[in-house]
Amino acid sequence: MHKIDIELIEMTLDVMKYAIDRISSTDPKIGKPKREEELKALVGETITKEGVGGEYAFNLWKKYLMKATVPIDHPRHLAFVPASPTRAAIMFDLVTSASSIHGAYWMEGAGGIFCENEAMKWIVSLTGLPKGAFGVFTSGGTAANLSAIVTAREYWREDETYKREKGLIITSVGAHSSIKAMAKVADVDILLVESEERLTSDDLRKTIGSLNYHQRKRLFAVVATGGTTNAGIIDDLEGISAICEKEKLWFHVDAAYGGGALVADSVRHFFRGIEKADSITVDPHKWMFSPYDCGAVIYKKPELAKQAHSQEGSYLEIFKDEGAQGFNPADYQIQLTRRVRGLPLWFSLATHGTNKYKEAVERGLQLAQIAGEMINKKPHVELVREPSLSCVLYRRIGWTPDDYRHWTYENHKKGFALVTPTKWKTGDTYETVSRFCFINPDTTETDIEDILESMV
Ligand SMILES: Cc1ncc(COP(=O)(O)O)c(C=O)c1O
Repeated sequence: MHKIDIELIEMTLDVMKYAIDRISSTDPKIGKPKREEELKALVGETITKEGVGGEYAFNLWKKYLMKATVPIDHPRHLAFVPASPTRAAIMFDLVTSASSIHGAYWMEGAGGIFCENEAMKWIVSLTGLPKGAFGVFTSGGTAANLSAIVTAREYWREDETYKREKGLIITSVGAHSSIKAMAKVADVDILLVESEERLTSDDLRKTIGSLNYHQRKRLFAVVATGGTTNAGIIDDLEGISAICEKEKLWFHVDAAYGGGALVADSVRHFFRGIEKADSITVDPHKWMFSPYDCGAVIYKKPELAKQAHSQEGSYLEIFKDEGAQGFNPADYQIQLTRRVRGLPLWFSLATHGTNKYKEAVERGLQLAQIAGEMINKKPHVELVREPSLSCVLYRRIGWTPDDYRHWTYENHKKGFALVTPTKWKTGDTYETVSRFCFINPDTTETDIEDILESMV
């Protein structure tokens, strides 16, 4: 398995050819999932005592398995939060894998971690956090949110009064599901402000005011969202930060999706107040055009994260030794062994410069405005609310939830587009509506027009 022979060279060339084709492709196909039994019937047994051989397995991948995946960078993939890694970043993802770097500790990963940190300095500069703030790349927004919540909880529990208390955090129903899921992992209770619209300082003040004595004692953090997943809404970060400061609460901003827009001059002012956060989540694999997986968590005071996450073990002591000193990403988030997953972002930033990032994000924002204008002009569709960041919620007049679902499956089956329905809450009722989320700057106005026309 570890020797070098002609077969290995040939296989390497085949893999490189595949990668070149994919990286330079301008027309990726939208694949469709198949049931596991169908895939099994197509490929048969692949894990055997003798092995089926690289060439055979690779052909199965190309012929069947790859086609059962949806490329996230397809210009008509406008569902969930899509992605659009730059070609430079994808290339360097290959280099990252080929370099076999352990990214937990400087002693082993110095060169790679140095590059990650250069990219991180740029992200931190976008947030406006004070000097001393810094972050690390994580596997995604979920891991970043968990790392931040655990840091906040540990900091709160430094006070003897709270040592045996179960913590409580406040966020809104607009917050991403990972906040609720990670609160469970961290064993903290969560109180949801019942509004999918912008979480305001008034909402927060009222919610805190409604707590009983014990709940108030257990409250240690507020999570605001810098771009909700469903609708791109940015909470009142400035107002919330002022309350957190007064009430001595940890202020976390989940900008996993919206964080990329910090670079865009046209919307930067909506994030005012983010510079007061104690921690921030940003996902470069969303709107910073990195390949999966690449999230980031940033702390105003990284030393607090270190107190929460730094692992101890006799086998790890050498990493803390003077001779091995340097920045150790393992100290600031939940993972020990880690890929240097910020490396592709570093290479892409170094290749293109930050202005190109600004342009690409501005294009996503512009596409949302263009889609909004088109929807306003068409009689069969209407906006549910004005586009926010790159999210557009709209309804097809007269459609039932089943119609939306059927339309989604039909478009997907045809390989035309992936646009999925969502729900929007007005008062006490949830309405099924359609949603665009723009990330890929290669999405065209014709793509939007064609999708909207397919709803006639
Ligand atoms: C606002 C927000 N937070 C967190 C997440 C979770 O991030 P990930 O899927 O990278 O774990 C998402 C994902 O869409 C998100 O939009």
